[in-house]
Amino acid sequence: MSRRSTYGIIGSVRPAHPTDELARLLGRPAVLRAGRDDTARYTTPARGPAGAAVDVVRPASTEEVREVVRWAREHRIRLLPQGANSGLVGASTPPGDAGDRLVVLSTDRLRDGLRVDEVDRTALVPAGIRLSELNRAAAEVGLWFPIDLGADPSLGGMVATDTGGARMLRHGDVRRNTLGLEVVLADDGVSVVDTLRVHRKQNEGLDPTALFVGSSGALGVITRVAVDLSVRPAETLAAWIPLDDPHDAVRLLGHLERRLDPLLSAFEVVSAAARRAAAVVGPTLPLRPAPWAVLVEVAGPEGAGDLLVAAAADAPVPTDDALVLPAASAWRVRHAVTEGLARTGTVVGHDVAVPRADLADLVTSAAAQVTATWPDATVADFGHWGDGGVHLNVVFPPGATVDDALVEAVHDIVFTLAVDRHGGTFSAEHGVGPANASWWLRSASPATFELVSALRRTCDPLGVLGHPGLPGPLSA
Ligand code: LAC
Ligand code: ZN
Repeated sequence: MSRRSTYGIIGSVRPAHPTDELARLLGRPAVLRAGRDDTARYTTPARGPAGAAVDVVRPASTEEVREVVRWAREHRIRLLPQGANSGLVGASTPPGDAGDRLVVLSTDRLRDGLRVDEVDRTALVPAGIRLSELNRAAAEVGLWFPIDLGADPSLGGMVATDTGGARMLRHGDVRRNTLGLEVVLADDGVSVVDTLRVHRKQNEGLDPTALFVGSSGALGVITRVAVDLSVRPAETLAAWIPLDDPHDAVRLLGHLERRLDPLLSAFEVVSAAARRAAAVVGPTLPLRPAPWAVLVEVAGPEGAGDLLVAAAADAPVPTDDALVLPAASAWRVRHAVTEGLARTGTVVGHDVAVPRADLADLVTSAAAQVTATWPDATVADFGHWGDGGVHLNVVFPPGATVDDALVEAVHDIVFTLAVDRHGGTFSAEHGVGPANASWWLRSASPATFELVSALRRTCDPLGVLGHPGLPGPLSA
């Protein structure tokens, strides 16, 4: 070998990039390289600052997920499992300071094998399938997955987050509608937990399925999901009802539940500030201006709509200026709120729940405290009062400096009210991520803390899975 070529070879060898080995193992399309490929959608969250540009690996089968996890364990590289990156607590977006020791593991190519079972009313869903895609397949046989929300998440992400959504009052959350899972662990054997052998009625003792629901990607990579489907209602009808006093909302809720059970499928309360924001991106309604408005929906057999109209007519609160309209039109306004708020300023979001009787006091005292502290901020509260849930979102005007210290101070006011004063929760339906990790640590009892640590050690002893900003026992 000549001296010249020796130098030539040395000169051409660059230090191997960490994900080159994955590209060799899984093929080039499976790896997106930061700086070389377009990775923006994997690092840009639905809310909050963009994450660092990092490499993205996109395995296309459960076996490929195992390859990726083996590689991560061998090189001690952290994998950030990610579905559609539509979560609101930062759990799927790389932190701003992630270097090349963190790689996004996107489930968006886990798409093969979606099956809907019409007779059992169930579906087997690869983790990368989106909610809208599952619902298109289910609709062909008159069924649907009744978790309803403005975004279009992937099924794996929904399980890792335990999404709630706007029909939770009637159908429950993802936990209630999940029958089984397939999950790749990061334990020494890179084991696959498979509880997909589904029967709705199955009581064989401890069931690991629920452990992974709401696990924020820290206990395993969810690769397939078996879900319960519901019958699509023959008739739905909605009404928007303006209210001057938020206490009237809870009175109306009690009345409608008693009159319409089990047809009442949603009960949402939206403040004027949130409705104004929705109007920036969505349609407007000819609704009397009022500080709050209720969106109520019934769903059921034909005639359900008439029952709503009759129940609203003899409600214990004024409903004369209710606007009755097709459910889809009513929801277009409601689902425009989050995007509308993001367009009107910088949103510091909260997803709290308290006993329903306390909701009116919570929103009033939170608004009073926030605006007394920051006069230029607006509290745009909206959400799922039927479940005791409310998004107490605080919006600062464009141009305001909203740094980490300010965000913490706003969280402190809202979470202290919801958790400490009203005995509620800091996360009603958005799950756990860096945005609310400190409150998980504040709320978890020592026994919960220990149990979660033990699970994490069992499922991922080297600590290669999940967002590094998750609460300590989930990210250590
Ligand atoms: C909603 C989301 C923010 O309720 O959870 O619109
Ligand atoms: Zn919500």
